[in-house]
Amino acid sequence: HDLYAVVGHPISHSKSPRIHSLFARQTGQAVEYTAIQAPLDGFADTVRQFFARGGKGLNVTVPFKEEAWRLAERRTARAELAGAANTLFQDPDGALVADNTDGVGLVRDLTVNLDVALGGRRLLVLGAGGAVRGVLGPLLAERPMELVIANRTLAKAEALARLFAREADSTRLGACGFETPAAPFDLIINGTSASLQGDLPPLSANVIGADTVVYDMMYSLQTTTFNQWALAQGATRVHDGLGMLVEQAAESFRVWRGVRPETAPVIEQLRTE
Ligand code: ATR
Repeated sequence: HDLYAVVGHPISHSKSPRIHSLFARQTGQAVEYTAIQAPLDGFADTVRQFFARGGKGLNVTVPFKEEAWRLAERRTARAELAGAANTLFQDPDGALVADNTDGVGLVRDLTVNLDVALGGRRLLVLGAGGAVRGVLGPLLAERPMELVIANRTLAKAEALARLFAREADSTRLGACGFETPAAPFDLIINGTSASLQGDLPPLSANVIGADTVVYDMMYSLQTTTFNQWALAQGATRVHDGLGMLVEQAAESFRVWRGVRPETAPVIEQLRTE
């Protein structure tokens, strides 16, 4: 078996070992996938030891994604833009390569699993931290008509909009605080970590119309705080980030193994667990 793992701190709650073992079984790939908790000051050592022992690939989660990006000797174009890495492997010369599959995972969940078109649409993205930076490139590549980044700290939203101006192409890319443009958006993506503190971004209800799709990058057994708020404002389509989680894992699996697993049965399975 080839050895893979996810590294984070904490890590015990991670669904990645379960997801990858379902992928391995489904595709017949000889993959063993574990979870490693790295000390907060010991991420680089953990990575080095893993590959020295013959490990083939790592996923990286909170709080090490930016450190993984810095540690890598090479980065894929999408990782370069994301400023963070969730996938590591070695190239044939043994150099550490960083990739980021979060953004394509989100876009695949939206466009393939949920049948939400992005091209020509108006998108509101909440948050301007690492999670949002990680997905902006793939979202913009779908050529929405408009993408507004709204964040508590306006300066961070503005900085992200500047950073991604070159990726925007024909998309109107804007930044604001939580006093957003009024008209309903086609799609609202919550990429803030507000709900970790049981908080809600103080948004005006009029960003939500009858046809607005709401996507919370968080997932939980119950409807997320943000999605509960959206439903109370009249949203009819709300989704959490479980599909994104499975899709980013599938893309990492494909990068490592050259085989793309079927995600729908895995998403379905996780919903029941
Ligand atoms: P992550 O990796 O989850 O993106 P991060 O880089 O620390 O973590 O970013 C957290 C994001 O959630 C930021 O956009 C943050 O807003 P600020 O830039 O103003 O800090 C947002 N956030 C965190 N707590 C929030 C809250 N209680 N209300 C609204 N936004 C919040």
